[in-house]
Amino acid sequence: MLSLLKLAVLGLASVAAAQVDSGNGVHVPGNVPANLYEPLQHRLAFAGVDGMTISWSSFTKLEQPQVAYGDHPSRLDMIANSTLSTTYNTSRTWNNHVKLTNLKPATQYWYKVSYTNAAYAAYRPLYTFTTARAPGDMTPFSIASFADLGLMGHDGLSTRTGPLGGPTTFLGANETNTIQSLLQMKDTYEFIGHYGDIGYADYFLKESIQGLFGTDNKSVLPDRETVATRYESLSEQFFDQMSPITAEKPWMVSPGNHEANCNNGGYSSKTAPNNITDDYCFEGQTNFTFYIEHFKMPSYESGGRNNFWYSYDYGMTHFISLDTETDLGHGLVGPIENSTNNQNGPFGLMDEQVKWLVEDLENVDRKKTPWVVVGLHRPWYVSVEPPTWPAWQQAFEKIFYDYEVDIYTQGHVHVYERFNPIFNGTVDANGMENPRAPWPIVNGAAGHYDGLDTFDDVRYNGSAFGIDDTYGWGRMTFHNKTHVTYEYIASGNSSVVDSATLYKEHKFHKK
Ligand SMILES: [Fe+2]
Repeated sequence: MLSLLKLAVLGLASVAAAQVDSGNGVHVPGNVPANLYEPLQHRLAFAGVDGMTISWSSFTKLEQPQVAYGDHPSRLDMIANSTLSTTYNTSRTWNNHVKLTNLKPATQYWYKVSYTNAAYAAYRPLYTFTTARAPGDMTPFSIASFADLGLMGHDGLSTRTGPLGGPTTFLGANETNTIQSLLQMKDTYEFIGHYGDIGYADYFLKESIQGLFGTDNKSVLPDRETVATRYESLSEQFFDQMSPITAEKPWMVSPGNHEANCNNGGYSSKTAPNNITDDYCFEGQTNFTFYIEHFKMPSYESGGRNNFWYSYDYGMTHFISLDTETDLGHGLVGPIENSTNNQNGPFGLMDEQVKWLVEDLENVDRKKTPWVVVGLHRPWYVSVEPPTWPAWQQAFEKIFYDYEVDIYTQGHVHVYERFNPIFNGTVDANGMENPRAPWPIVNGAAGHYDGLDTFDDVRYNGSAFGIDDTYGWGRMTFHNKTHVTYEYIASGNSSVVDSATLYKEHKFHKK
């Protein structure tokens, strides 16, 4: 049953859309299509060793989401169906998920999404993807790796972004942004690891208060309905911008604080001097609903929980995604969990995430996947107002060390900074040559409305290199069982501006 709000939203949006989206199969980003069944915002995710989940959005419910696929572009002779077409209060779209199984490893497939009785509709785009390499496949590969990538363009990061945006906010007039760079360089990586803060739809409130949308600076608080509709508009625009990439490259995501609700933990304005709490968000825009509904990560396949913690293998590497926002275990409170202004999580039982992490690491076959890489949102080593012994460090760092995790990548802070391998504040004496300690990399500089952060005058202990004035993304290349290289790619011209290689013998201390 549609809520009255949703009906109103659809009605208003449809009127506007009729002027710009003619229904000829060419979708105008951010608008409601003339055909509400039109498949939009495609996104892929690995689903176990032989699976791929195809997700997309439509502006109406699909009774039976369907994918036609095959191993030749003119022979889509296999069909997969599901009943997963769901929405939430205030969303204008339904999220459709279909899981393909029994796929061959490292194999190219082509697909079209559809729905019952409308297979092969002519305008429906044909996309392609390549399945994961089998565990133990030692073929070199690269991934794109970053956090904190938000909306680009008029409502997000642009050459004329918000009047009170970050200190280095503006995008250069001739620079490509990170989404454009990722698209241009699509053939240089096999999938994406996006470690939290996805789209920044919750920034509508902040952008409004700061005057980006024409309101008197800090004097007007948008009403709840406006926040809800524009949150969804920003979200749709972001998925539209990403889909030329994510329709063909798996997009493996982790939760960040900006997925939690509509108010980013609370803002203040002249009319609302106290923080705007979760009460300002409609039901459906709280507690990570957006994140839970839009994505389908392989938690079922790896024994994890929803999209919050999960793992998967790809060739010589075991990848793990964790939740730094909630569910830290052992009595630790996540940074946005049950705070004064927001009620988020927990999503698992007591200590579930850390118990799962230990069990997952216990079961890694390091003969097949010698590399173990963890993605999670918040850092604990970073040279921007570094927190002192934060809860998420207490939850995870020792486990990483004990189980010889090779690399962990984080974001949240909007800089690029790589450290020397380090544990418990002590830099590993071996440096990058076969260290015992894991290698932390912070890369939250992909860009969004707020721009970049600025390093403190004194770098944190162990910092090896950092950039705080250039938008960019990371490319991690696994050469063989002993060498991996991390590069920082400047989004403006897609050039490599930093590169470091880690050597690990992978003779493990733990049996
Ligand atoms: Fe964040």
